[in-house]
Amino acid sequence: MEVIIQSDSEKGSEIAARLIARQVREKPRSVLGLATGGTPLALYRLLARMHRGEGLDFGSVTTFNLDEYAGLAADHPASYHHFMEQNLFKHLDIPPAQRHIPDGLAKDIPAHCEAYEKAIREAGGIDLQLLGLGSDGHLGFNEPGSSLASRTRIKTLTERTRRDNRHNFSSAEEVPHHVITMGLGTITDSRMCLLLAFGKAKAHAVRLAVEGPVTASVPGSLLQFHQRAKVILDEEAASELERAGYYRWVYQNKPPWQIDL
Ligand code: F6R
Repeated sequence: MEVIIQSDSEKGSEIAARLIARQVREKPRSVLGLATGGTPLALYRLLARMHRGEGLDFGSVTTFNLDEYAGLAADHPASYHHFMEQNLFKHLDIPPAQRHIPDGLAKDIPAHCEAYEKAIREAGGIDLQLLGLGSDGHLGFNEPGSSLASRTRIKTLTERTRRDNRHNFSSAEEVPHHVITMGLGTITDSRMCLLLAFGKAKAHAVRLAVEGPVTASVPGSLLQFHQRAKVILDEEAASELERAGYYRWVYQNKPPWQIDL
């Protein structure tokens, strides 16, 4: 796991944007796993700017989002379909047939989840999976206690996550209890995992995920088993890390042949 600490979220997002841009330039038919929430917003703005200003071409890219609320239609303002359309897809040139987000209104949820897994496999697997971290350590909507081998399925949100996401809904009661999410097994099958976490509210979860034991109680800790996981943090999110000084030194003193950003 490579831990990259930057002074603020804007600088962290710039590194993430450069990594994604390089991935897409080197392999135009890349399969990207995408996340929603507050964390990737600056990154998505940067990708839109690179598309507009530098001609970064997403026309052959395929995407799979991590999750969606069960019971929300795509046009619901709090749905992740709506989020992706507003914050990324309408600014890029990815053909609609190449974008995938779990369907919150799927009638047969197990069959839909199986088809989602099959679509990922048929696309050749995910090259780069973007991730945020829940304040309770969740990845996607895999809440603490999720099977480390899980695949796409329905999950029940913790009260903490429902509270964290309350601001997207008009009332606390409206926040769904159920979601469809890629599993932890699905996520870690990706060739590269890129976790972003910014702000003080994430510091404890970051400490547990990066330096704690690998446990289903902290789904983010599973990234410690991944061969190519990068964790990009701002100073606040890194503030509880014991080895922060070491990570900074490593990043600033990479031998030239190891620099990949
Ligand atoms: C979103 C997702 C979640 C979020 C996490 C952090 O698609 O899968 O795991 O990444 O809840 O959310 P924010 O970024 O809003 O703090």
